Amino acid sequence: MSEEIPVVDLSDASSAASAEAILKGFGDFGLVYVKGHGVDIDRLHRFYDLLIALFGKPEAEKQAWARPDIWYQRGWTPPNTEQAVVAGGQPDFKECYFAAPMELDARLGLMFPEIYSENSWPEGADDFRDEYLALGRSVHQVGLDLLRVCATALDLPAEIFADGTKGGPHVTRALRYLALDESQVGGDIVWGEEHTDFNLVTLLPGGRFFDPSGQPCGRPDPDAGLYLRTRPTAAHPKGRMVHGRPPPGCIVAQVGQQLEILTGGTMLATPHVITAPKAPGYTRTAFAHFVHLHSEQRLFPHDKFLTDDVMRAYGPPVLAGTYGLKTLVDIGLAPKSALDKLGYHHYDRLADARS
Ligand SMILES: [Fe+2]
Repeated sequence: MSEEIPVVDLSDASSAASAEAILKGFGDFGLVYVKGHGVDIDRLHRFYDLLIALFGKPEAEKQAWARPDIWYQRGWTPPNTEQAVVAGGQPDFKECYFAAPMELDARLGLMFPEIYSENSWPEGADDFRDEYLALGRSVHQVGLDLLRVCATALDLPAEIFADGTKGGPHVTRALRYLALDESQVGGDIVWGEEHTDFNLVTLLPGGRFFDPSGQPCGRPDPDAGLYLRTRPTAAHPKGRMVHGRPPPGCIVAQVGQQLEILTGGTMLATPHVITAPKAPGYTRTAFAHFVHLHSEQRLFPHDKFLTDDVMRAYGPPVLAGTYGLKTLVDIGLAPKSALDKLGYHHYDRLADARS
């Protein structure tokens, strides 16, 4: 079924074929494959060597790179930290390293200190840092190019989505899905529980499997990997689960909740799940880049898509930054107290004055 998922060729971005591919891909599957993207895939694989070396360090050393103080938005996220909202709280079987490759709006750091944090890097990992940032920037460019194709295909001004991302809290995560042991294989442990991404658009330039001895290898189980759920229809009220198997060299691009909201549901935030191979000992590295709206952007459907149903479904309007804060609480990375910031938070002043 995966051949149904359209391919957008960015070397031919302004063609009718690209517009058609993105409308069908983002509209029905919430996903397209991207070719002609200009990202150096060999470089990505060299980066994975650096990532594996880093994740191979002792646990105690890695703990020093974890940043619970900024909700793990930079540095190392230990396994079992994050959980999908709908999945009933099963933590994901992965470890990650977060960094922001693009320049952030420094002013926003005052209001959202955690999600606009400076990057933090392990000592002596200069190659890792440089490769990480260079790859992140190059993948970000693909996101902007796709957003232009998307806007044009919807008969909106070409820059409308891309402009809304300038200075936003874009973040990249380099991750490793962990090895299952004999007793876990075939059970209900998945590498990433079914969820939708909360950003604007997500880029996945391809992962790499490692065998139990740590050597790079091909796909150990043809059924393992990314599955997405298509838009529900009368014939398939739960949608269909489609295995994402991009053609070689292609990048996967997924619609996030923000793009679904801006388009009043015309584009679909893809529910997706990462299943583990049915063989013990295999791991997989991946690189995911999340393009976000700038935190002061209003998150509400464009006028073009407004109907009563759409307003009911996507109202009330909120800012992208407050929406993000709420989501980080929902997925277990930020404390519930973070929500106090979304209303007046100076009641203490009156209490102090009266005492
Ligand atoms: Fe995701």
